[in-house]
Amino acid sequence: MKRFRVLVTRQPLGNSLDRLEKIAEVRLNREDRPMTMEEILEGVKDCDGLISLPYDRVDGELMDASGRLKVISNHAVGYDNIDVEAATKRGIMVTNTPDVLTETTADLAWALILATARRLTEAERYLRDGRWESWSPSLLVGTDVHGRVLGILGMGRIGAAVARRAQGFRMKVLYSDVFRNEKAEKELGIEYADLKRVLKESDFVSVHVPLMPSTHHFIGERELNQMKRSAIIVNTSRGPVVDEMALYRALNERRIAGAGLDVFESEPIDQENPLLRLDNVVLVPHIGSASRDTRIAMGDLAVENMMAALRGRIPPSLVNRELLKTKPLSG
Ligand code: GLV
Repeated sequence: MKRFRVLVTRQPLGNSLDRLEKIAEVRLNREDRPMTMEEILEGVKDCDGLISLPYDRVDGELMDASGRLKVISNHAVGYDNIDVEAATKRGIMVTNTPDVLTETTADLAWALILATARRLTEAERYLRDGRWESWSPSLLVGTDVHGRVLGILGMGRIGAAVARRAQGFRMKVLYSDVFRNEKAEKELGIEYADLKRVLKESDFVSVHVPLMPSTHHFIGERELNQMKRSAIIVNTSRGPVVDEMALYRALNERRIAGAGLDVFESEPIDQENPLLRLDNVVLVPHIGSASRDTRIAMGDLAVENMMAALRGRIPPSLVNRELLKTKPLSG
């Protein structure tokens, strides 16, 4: 009999579970769909560990349903789907998958900057619809990216990777954050400014703040009104960081020029969402970290975190580090 039992809510890419199976009985959802809450509550019974995904709501009730949960390993860098306070109160470790997805997510933010500026998806729809009849000086003209001002909201790992790419486009980069990142300022030649100035002076605004109570609707009507009419906003963090209805109104009334969105207030997107009716947006289904190598690395790290925690070691990416004060874990 294996000592541990782990619920995995969806098959990770790659074969990382093979290692986990050496020490634990793995209860895996083999279907290509998320588990329902009822299925998770049932499946987590008597489990020591849970490997969860961004759409799994992990709250105190779920934690208690296990009866012996020790670790929640989120297969994502964001962990707004987990009630970390409830986990800490119960002595349950929470881990995530930072670093391995930084560059891939920055690539997608850039793909959205470029696609929105140059109207790529709109242009493709035009071509596929058979509407391309001539070369015209005014056909699908967009806006230049090179040499413009990029505003980055949140200068963490992903924000810095987005800023680094801007050097190749010879852009001036402004950023705002609750903390100054002097290392990034020195290395990347970027400038710290308050939020209002970043919004006012940027041609492109890229959002890289985590979702937490203080960042819910961080960008709303007032902030959107501070942006240039020609500006484009890109969000690859979490949907609720931006007030989506305020964004829709700003785009519809052309108070800003465009948006590139990987994340939405409600996912998967509702087909009634009015953003779907706009041409000046590029919309993709939460694929920021979706390169093959990165998704395999995320699965590996989620399993590594799980195995370390089950073995009584400090997991490589422990979120609630305050537990270390009370838990006898080895390094
Ligand atoms: C995905 O959205 C993640 O947080 O890794």
